[in-house]
Amino acid sequence: MSATVMDGTALAAKVKEQVRAQVETMERKPGLAVILVGDNPASRVYVNGKKRDCAQCGIYSEEYALPEETSQEQLLGLIDELNRREDIDGILCQLPLPKHLDEEAALLAIRPDKDVDCFHPYNVGRLMIGAPGFRPCTPAGVMRMLEEYHIDPAGKHCVIVGRSNIVGKPQAMLMLQKNATVTICHTKTKDLKAECLRSDILVAAAGRTGLITADMVPEGAVVIDVAMNRNAAGKLCGDVDFAPAAEKASFITPVPGGVGPMTRAMLMENTLLASRNHGKA
Ligand code: GUN
Repeated sequence: MSATVMDGTALAAKVKEQVRAQVETMERKPGLAVILVGDNPASRVYVNGKKRDCAQCGIYSEEYALPEETSQEQLLGLIDELNRREDIDGILCQLPLPKHLDEEAALLAIRPDKDVDCFHPYNVGRLMIGAPGFRPCTPAGVMRMLEEYHIDPAGKHCVIVGRSNIVGKPQAMLMLQKNATVTICHTKTKDLKAECLRSDILVAAAGRTGLITADMVPEGAVVIDVAMNRNAAGKLCGDVDFAPAAEKASFITPVPGGVGPMTRAMLMENTLLASRNHGKA
């Protein structure tokens, strides 16, 4: 089999156009504040992309680029100020934060109704019980991509490699809500290959280049590569050995151009949702 390559760039453009059309009808434009602490080059690239997406969607954005030596008090002070702002609907604190800062405390400080990342325990809890609200951008982007390609997870065995709070765990919840049978694998999983070979949908979210080789991909499986790694040559790549895996899969996402653009498009949707709900609580 030779897989259909799932085009995240094209689908993200479609989603952003839908957001733009809705924003156009709004009297007050949604506003997103992005906080970046320190000078992590990858974070800078991500933040620039998010600002560009906001501009494309007609969403007002503000960037707070704080120096590496920012104190916890300064960071919490800024979040408090943004929490109170009427014109700011969403607050995103780009991770990772410098080591001396308490990431958990920062994420907890963001008002749950402005938590467009869906990292606050209140929103994580709502996700867990299937209540309406924000959904984390990367797993939501994966679900939207499956929908676009008419892949219904119901009754399928979804194997997720990775158990992070940002991707692995919420991805499992969203798959479960769509009636998939879910296995989460991690570094202590005994026989990763055997688990992967039982999948109908394989989600690679470990962040380790070359972890998923073609012999771990069942014939006809849907392969979703969430990772954004750099290989030895500095080239962006995922966890999946793409070309040989594409020979076996029915559908596969490329890196770049797969899940990455969808993550950003879902952030625009969450910001729109935040602005629609802002002031209603
Ligand atoms: N760093 C890597 N991915 C993300 C994300 O989805 N949100 C935030 N805030 N930081 C990240």
